[in-house]
This record gives sequence, C-alpha cells and structure tokens, in this order.
Amino acid sequence: MSVEAQAFWDEVHRGRGRSRHGEPHPYLREVLGSLHPGRALELGCGDGATAIWLAAHRWTVTAVDISRVALDAASEHAERAGVSSHITWQRADLRDWTTHETFDLVTALFLHTPLELDAPAVLARAAAATRKGGTMLTVGHYTLPPWAWAPADTDGLLSASELVAAIGLHEPGWRTILAEEVRRTVTGCDAHASTVLDAVLHAVRATAPPTRSPVAPSVA
Ligand SMILES: C[S@@+](CC[C@H](N)C(=O)[O-])C[C@H]1O[C@@H](n2cnc3c(N)ncnc32)[C@H](O)[C@@H]1O
Repeated sequence: MSVEAQAFWDEVHRGRGRSRHGEPHPYLREVLGSLHPGRALELGCGDGATAIWLAAHRWTVTAVDISRVALDAASEHAERAGVSSHITWQRADLRDWTTHETFDLVTALFLHTPLELDAPAVLARAAAATRKGGTMLTVGHYTLPPWAWAPADTDGLLSASELVAAIGLHEPGWRTILAEEVRRTVTGCDAHASTVLDAVLHAVRATAPPTRSPVAPSVA
C-alpha cells in the first residue's frame, strides 16, 4: 500500500471533519431505485455516503478506500444509520487491489486523486468482478467547480465514452445504458452555486455470451 497516498488522503478526510456526510450522486439514486438489491462493491467510498445509502436500500456492500480516517468516519455514520451489519469496510490501495468475489453492482464515484492511480485499470478489474446481468455505475468529474483544487486543470479527466473505451466496456458482453456528460448544480462552502459536468457511465454486463455472426460455409 502506498504510504504517501494513505497519508495524503487521511489528511484530506481529517480536514473534512466527521460531521460532514455527503449525499449519493443523484443519477445513482435515480437508477438504483429500480434495481433489485444484491451484493454491491463501492470503490473509493470516502465518507461512505453511497455505501450507506445502498445498505439502507437492502444491498450488502463491500466498500473500499485507502484512508483509515475515511473508513472510521464512514463506519460511524453507518452505525448511526443502523446499517453497519450490511457493510464490510475494506482498507486497500486500489493500485494493487484485486478480488475473487463477484458483485451484482459495482459503483465508483469521483475516483480521482492527484497521486498516481490508473483509474481505468482499477475499473476494468472491477468490471471483471461484475456478475452477468450485473450493473456498473461510475461517475467522474468532467468539469470542475471554481472552488476545486485546480479548476482549470481538466487534463486527464475522461469523458464517459472515453472511459467506456479505456475500461473495455465497448467489447461485446456489455450493454451501455448511458455514457454521457450530465449537468449537476453544486454548492460551495460560501453557498455559491455552480454547474459542473459529470461523466456518467452506466453499463450492464450481458447475461448471454455475445452472439457471433454466422460464418458462411466455405465452398471447396
Ligand atoms: C475524490 S474522493 C471521492 C470519494 C467518494 N467516492 C465521493 O464521491 O465522495 C476519492 C476517494 O478515493 C480514495 N482513494 C484515493 N486513492 C486511492 C487508492 N489508491 N486506493 C483506494 N482508495 C483511494 C480517497 O481516500 C477518497 O475517499
């Protein structure tokens, strides 16, 4: 595990304080309300907002993050929400994280870091851990609000369709439901509102193997 990444993210989460507890992304709430609950994997779970929301909607969740500070806060929030028995908090560096388990749902929201992390490679491993018929839902920044660390620094932020290609979900075996930049209004600490674009990717793993086009018999 990278000690540098762990220390960096512990410091970020410490600065945010335990009272702050975010809301799950609106697209996630909209889509997941219609899915039958099962086993979910939540990557880069931070303060646990998504994991806790899923658990409250009868999902059994494995939530992964590198930061002990984030996981401690998340687990306190889950305790208060009465859902802690439905969530396994896993401290791991996603750079070398793998799993042998499979999941009905994989979520990853804003898996961004200024430190080295090949997010598409992480998401490709997570895609491989999605059961047939399972759902993958990722949201990333495509534009940043003015109060972000470096609002103009959008180099390296992928559009949803670039992410589809980078993860390999354009291959047969996956059906893309949505791969688009979606507008969202966000509010900063000074109550100032701004509109940002999120790269939203929602894909479903096919249940049947991809059909091959019939091969014409060769004529001798
Ligand atoms: C931008 S925050 C997003 C948090 C949360 N998903 C959300 O939407 O609020 C990125 C999260 O990824 C975690 N993270 C960053 N690098 C990581 C790594 N190498 N392995 C595991 N988690 C990591 C951070 O601790 C942080 O919680």
